Amino acid sequence: SEFYALVPAAGFGARMGNELPKQYLDLAGRPMIWHALSTLCANPNIRTVFVVLAPDDGYFARYDWSHCAGKLAPLYCGGKTRAESVENGLLASELDADDWVLVHDAARPCLSAHLLARMIAELRDDPVGGILAVPVADTLKRADAQQRIAHTEPREGLWQAQTPQMFRAGLLAQALARSNNVTDDASAIEALGLQPKLVASDTSNFKVTYPQDIVLAELLLRQENN
Ligand code: C5P
Repeated sequence: SEFYALVPAAGFGARMGNELPKQYLDLAGRPMIWHALSTLCANPNIRTVFVVLAPDDGYFARYDWSHCAGKLAPLYCGGKTRAESVENGLLASELDADDWVLVHDAARPCLSAHLLARMIAELRDDPVGGILAVPVADTLKRADAQQRIAHTEPREGLWQAQTPQMFRAGLLAQALARSNNVTDDASAIEALGLQPKLVASDTSNFKVTYPQDIVLAELLLRQENN
């Protein structure tokens, strides 16, 4: 079996409050999506990086992708939700059922090459697959209807899911077809009764969601390039 990546990039990024879709915002002199795509394409195990774009995306084709050495495959089949975009992309990619696919958010630009390599090494013989994740650092409060603290949730054993999330293409397609509006790929696999592995990541692989996240992402990216 082979390794592939699939990057859903068909969202609008409503929480960013910008006209330009989030994945194309300038980040250290490049569109946000450029960073993760470059890291994925540079991994020697990954054969092709599928990018799932909105059917009417007019941005992707404007950039020069020649440094990705022909590994990039844009698919203009994004859906209404992230899960739908991944599902459509998997169908369009025509991968074999037992190919590994690493699904990664365009909005996680600070994925490091060494974490990516470590994840593939840790999961390549796993029966289910798994995800990058970090143990929860903050104390967690459960709110009541008045937005007062009902109780404190024990954070022991709780992890925050990141991407990539790495599964067999056939299993993931099946899982997503059966699930309803899941917020990550692992949730769909879990609904089949399977238990994806948690691979310890670090917080620099955060998802750029709010305007202030841009500042930190730029700092981390500039550091890495020096
Ligand atoms: O908006 P959010 O950051 O949660 O989106 C996560 C990822 O899913 C982003 O890379 C976004 O472009 C993608 N997405 C998508 N299709 C949608 C919604 C989001 O590919 N309909």
